[in-house]
Amino acid sequence: MTVPVVPAQQRHVDEICRICSDGWRETYTRLLPDEEIETTIDEFYTTERVAKEVRSPDGWDGWLVALHDEDVLGAGGGGLTELTVGEVFVLYVDPAEKRKGVGSRLLETMTAQQRNKGATEQWVSIVPSNEIGKSFYRKHGFEVVGEREAYGDSSDRNSLRLRRSL
Ligand SMILES: CC(C)(COP(=O)(O)OP(=O)(O)OC[C@H]1O[C@@H](n2cnc3c(N)ncnc32)[C@H](O)[C@@H]1OP(=O)(O)O)[C@@H](O)C(=O)NCCC(=O)NCCS
Repeated sequence: MTVPVVPAQQRHVDEICRICSDGWRETYTRLLPDEEIETTIDEFYTTERVAKEVRSPDGWDGWLVALHDEDVLGAGGGGLTELTVGEVFVLYVDPAEKRKGVGSRLLETMTAQQRNKGATEQWVSIVPSNEIGKSFYRKHGFEVVGEREAYGDSSDRNSLRLRRSL
């Protein structure tokens, strides 16, 4: 299956929201409190917010989508946090399309964007108990470096920080 990865357009917004919301529920049910899952979805994956981010990405490289014909199979994006430091901000594959290389294609494309801007290393945060996420990033050469307070949520849990050289 050929999976082009391209910058998202407005017509992809609803599918990005669906995939990220489904992905959150599928990945974190039993790992995180239901309330945190639903609060995060309500904050980050509304049509209004994602439409704005697609229109004018601010402080990152913007949403990418992996496509098969016109179907969105996965979505994600990253950017630089310092001159030579890249970060994966978000990466979700449609639960029905997992383990077919879609996540790897998205990661490859955002990594190319970051390398082109001068990144020599790349970081990502994941929920410590997200074993699939851990396995995915390890497969791509990331190593666990430590933990830090999770971004953008009201809980006091930590995120696992992983890093690889580019
Ligand atoms: C993590 C995620 C993006 C991976 O996407 P994917 O398209 O399913 O992954 P790929 O098919 O590209 O897999 C690449 C490698 O990752 C590892 N991997 C992927 N899914 C795995 C699983 N269920 N169990 C163990 N290892 C897995 C494997 O090493 C795999 O290589 P292999 O298939 O040759 O063994 C996807 O599972 C997802 O959307 N998860 C929910 C969201 C999330 O956790 N995102 C990461 C935090 S930002």
